[in-house]
Amino acid sequence: MSNQLFVHSGSKNEKYQFLLQQIPTLLDPQSDVIANMANMVAALKETFGFFWIGFYRVEGEQLVLGPFQGPIACTRIAKGKGVCGVAWQKARTHLVSNVHEFPGHISCNDASKSEVVVPVLVSGEVVAVLDIDSDEFATFDTIDQEYLEKICACLGQLYHSY
Ligand code: SME
Repeated sequence: MSNQLFVHSGSKNEKYQFLLQQIPTLLDPQSDVIANMANMVAALKETFGFFWIGFYRVEGEQLVLGPFQGPIACTRIAKGKGVCGVAWQKARTHLVSNVHEFPGHISCNDASKSEVVVPVLVSGEVVAVLDIDSDEFATFDTIDQEYLEKICACLGQLYHSY
């Protein structure tokens, strides 16, 4: 695998497309889930500079903090709690333009203002969620949703190769 990420200087669409093109060299099917999640959050951080990017992995009835970039965060989230727990329970992406208006939002950091949470699915089951926080309102839209779902689908596919 390549150890260098190339970052597009253009639009959000172009940045995501460029990042997706590099996924075959970025994610290693011979490695393990934590290593691949770690490189994925690093690549998203390097490309977009979002405030907080991380994975929570499903462990029994809870989500447990996995690889992340950004300030320290809550380590465990119950099913159905917060944006992450609801995205897990409903097995679908949640775009939150103002976290203060999301009932039960879990605030790990006061600076967080908007958020997107995307489930990682393996054979229809949620095995993890990708959580991205912004320190500005309304940062994420359906473009982010479309590409982040593609990224999470690539990660989900890898589970069959470990
Ligand atoms: N805000 C999330 C908790 C995780 S942190 O943002 C890193 C939530 O409501 O689930």
